[in-house]
Amino acid sequence: MLEGIGKIRIKFMRSLRTDMLLIICLVGILPGFILSRAFLYGYEKQAVTARENEARDRCRVISDRLYRSGYPEDTQNGTADSELALLSDLYGGRVMVINADLRIVKDTYSQSEGKYLILSEAEEGLSGRSISDYDPESSFIQIVTPIGAGESPVGVMLTYVSTSDITRSLEASRKLCTIIILSIAAVVIGAGVIVAAKITGQFRKLSKSVENIRFGFEEEEINIFDYRETEQINEAFDEVVTRMKNLDNSRSEFVANVSHELKTPITSIKLLAESITSQADVSKEIYEEFMTDIIAEVDREDRIINDLLSLVKMDRTATDLQIEKCDIDHMLEGIIKRLTPIADREKVELIFETVRQVTAEVDETKLSLALTNIIENGIKYNHEGGFVRVTLDSEPMMFVVRVEDSGIGIPEEDIPNIFERFYRVDKSHSREIGGTGLGLAIARGSILMHKGTVKVESTQGEGSVFEIKIPLSYIVTPAAPDAEKGGAGIE
Ligand SMILES: Nc1ncnc2c1ncn2[C@@H]1O[C@H](COP(=O)(O)OP(=O)(O)O)[C@@H](O)[C@H]1O
Ligand SMILES: [Mg+2]
Repeated sequence: MLEGIGKIRIKFMRSLRTDMLLIICLVGILPGFILSRAFLYGYEKQAVTARENEARDRCRVISDRLYRSGYPEDTQNGTADSELALLSDLYGGRVMVINADLRIVKDTYSQSEGKYLILSEAEEGLSGRSISDYDPESSFIQIVTPIGAGESPVGVMLTYVSTSDITRSLEASRKLCTIIILSIAAVVIGAGVIVAAKITGQFRKLSKSVENIRFGFEEEEINIFDYRETEQINEAFDEVVTRMKNLDNSRSEFVANVSHELKTPITSIKLLAESITSQADVSKEIYEEFMTDIIAEVDREDRIINDLLSLVKMDRTATDLQIEKCDIDHMLEGIIKRLTPIADREKVELIFETVRQVTAEVDETKLSLALTNIIENGIKYNHEGGFVRVTLDSEPMMFVVRVEDSGIGIPEEDIPNIFERFYRVDKSHSREIGGTGLGLAIARGSILMHKGTVKVESTQGEGSVFEIKIPLSYIVTPAAPDAEKGGAGIE
């Protein structure tokens, strides 16, 4: 069966590589293209203006000479003719002289002499205006120069100045620019493809490694250190993987421990039951003795299950804390009262002292479970005639509960581990006195939920001191990340 077959969706995702290529191309090609356009436009404008100015000046000089030599009435002047021919040759264009009736009296192309020219510019020229007009389509500048001074000229000189040489060199420059732009584009795109491939290659490597890890931590570590950015992702990911592995290990270890702890009483019960049933005549005394043992084992199983349930509730991620203002002094009195019968049975003196009365925002049920476990340990891991002293005091932001006992003490090397689940310094002794090894783990969970700390000092054979500090006001901000590690909050 193909899972999730109904969820196939076609989505066009943008790719990093195409985005990068696009940016590289735009940055690499567009400026060159715009610059070349601007350069060609500037060159054309400047060249045409220079040509236009020069030609206009020359036309003005010649039109003066024509006027002086009797034009446009008298066109039989050799000098004027040759000047017109020279002008025509110089600019590779045509020169026409028109009289006041708009009749062409001279044409250097000798095609239109005697004809009339109906041209608005010629008419404007006759009213005394000099006009010049560039037509890039036909590569000509049309220059209209009035003949004769003043408001009413006697004729007009019409000169067509060719700009085809400008157009030709413009065309050549345009070709050169295109070649340069195309070459730059080729280099930029080539480099872009290489850079994009290199960078996306890094991401592909990264996602491949992630994929490998997704299918069972096959790869120990990812090693993508070519770029600082990928190195950072790499390191962050390695950290996540390490934490996942640790979590996985501690979970398996916990499950193994739980199974073992739960199986032990059941195995005992089975053995006890079997030994009764295997005997033919069981006396009432033996039967009662075995049954008492069975009940004790059932009680033990019950205790383990209850402790496990408490531990789950103390999971730091749980957000179901019932925070209320609580009289800590009153709460501790209640705990002491409940534990006094056990202390009496163990012949341990239980002392409670209040240095300062404290009211704090806590989850009373969870915190009193933590303190009960710690005080109960003081009673249970003690000697006959010993004592447990519980002191309540307060600091500026915290309240402090000190639990001091004159008990067996904890070996120095075991102190860092006693808050681990199922950890017991002396397993058989703990079992004897009904311990599950979960008491301090539960206490730690509860204290961490309150953003508090617990400090242990102990000397083997002399006794231990547990110092618990809890903020007076509940801190809503999440705990610091290092609070996850085993010893966090525990000094
Ligand atoms: N006050 C103490 N004095 C000596 N040892 C202690 C004390 N408190 C805890 N321990 C040691 O730490 C271990 C873990 O404690 P805990 O988690 O409460 O488990 P247990 O169910 O065995 O009491 C105990 O088994 C004991 O060896
Ligand atoms: Mg305990």
